[in-house]
Amino acid sequence: MTMTKSNILAANPSEQWFEDTFLWKIKVWLQFTGWLLYLANAVMVLVMLLVAGVGSIIGLWPAFLVGLPLGLAAILALKLVFDIVTVRFSLRPAEAFPKALDHLDAFDLMRARVSCRSFQSRDLTQDHLTELMEVVRINSAPEHQLGQRPIRFEYIAAPLTVWLTVGGHEFLVAIAPREYDRLSVIDVGRSLQKIVLHATRMGLATCWIGPGADQKSVIQHLGDRFDPTMDHVICVCALGYRSRFRPLALVGIQQSQRKRRPLSDLFFADPTFNDPLKTDEKPFDDFGRCYEVCQWSPSSYNAQPTRCAAVTELRDGSDELVRFDFFSATASRYYAAVALGIWCANWETGCEALGQRGHFEVLSASTRAVVNAPALPRYDVSWMIDGA
Ligand SMILES: Cc1cc2nc3c(=O)[nH]c(=O)nc-3n(C[C@H](O)[C@H](O)[C@H](O)COP(=O)(O)O)c2cc1C
Repeated sequence: MTMTKSNILAANPSEQWFEDTFLWKIKVWLQFTGWLLYLANAVMVLVMLLVAGVGSIIGLWPAFLVGLPLGLAAILALKLVFDIVTVRFSLRPAEAFPKALDHLDAFDLMRARVSCRSFQSRDLTQDHLTELMEVVRINSAPEHQLGQRPIRFEYIAAPLTVWLTVGGHEFLVAIAPREYDRLSVIDVGRSLQKIVLHATRMGLATCWIGPGADQKSVIQHLGDRFDPTMDHVICVCALGYRSRFRPLALVGIQQSQRKRRPLSDLFFADPTFNDPLKTDEKPFDDFGRCYEVCQWSPSSYNAQPTRCAAVTELRDGSDELVRFDFFSATASRYYAAVALGIWCANWETGCEALGQRGHFEVLSASTRAVVNAPALPRYDVSWMIDGA
């Protein structure tokens, strides 16, 4: 499979000068053939060898210290060979079948979801696939969408090379109308996250892939299930069973993604985003861990572009919480909207678990009493508290 700049940037057509350079093309080739993952390790081996060699030639190291970089180089080289054999060529022992996570409550389940960086080579069992496709069917239904336009999720069984996860060979492809419709993109995020949460409950591993998917090859695999005049691929989601075998580079990457902005950067008590919401004080603490599961929801490049402002109204002399407005903090037309949809899914899953009744609605600027709103953060949708 070849990867070109037009594939990578399908959802963001801005081009950079360096994308025409030879080095960049090599990097993209290494990336989408999967070899780039091993390159970092190989480079570290070379650096250690250089340090040992140059150090001993110029007499920088006492003889006994040369062993240190040499030893490190040997360990890294062994790990490199081990990774290539076990991951790249899949020569590894069969791994345990995962257990369902039925013992977790909704909040712990949402926290248990993490992007899987390495999948086992076994296929989904027929039972798992059947259950999953039923959840896909339910969550693609028009009555479960916020927008008016249809979205859908197509299943592909093919070893697509996607960046940055290895071994994925079963995918859901999220498709929205070709003509840009923001609510449909939000729907993709919301519906796919509900599918992801169900998959997590079943013990399956998942990884959202947007910019790291080769759109051309995805479309090729869809065949006549993709109509270029009507459809737009928003992202894919790898599904399968988590593997313990990961290239060294992915261990570091996974660690770096276990970080989130503090709640005070995400939830606000005012529409100008100056006053952090006191999520542990009345009446906001009624929403318990809903804030936390939004904070820990996935986003492309872990950018966390969603913001929320709680809205209160003066009623009978006191402030009553009536709704939460959700905003996108960046101008990204696709991935910010998907991230916002994912927040919506986690928020309403949390509310359902707490028995907090409400629904999503898109309000006009006049209903929100907004004049001269800045372009960003951009308002998208509100969670209306039922009965408020
Ligand atoms: C819409 C979307 C697109 C994503 N695209 C990619 C991708 O192309 N490659 C990748 O390795 N991870 C991708 N991710 C996964 C994010 O990197 C990951 O969610 C984030 O770093 C947080 O880590 P976590 O999911 O383990 O909590 C994507 C996530 C989302 C929601």
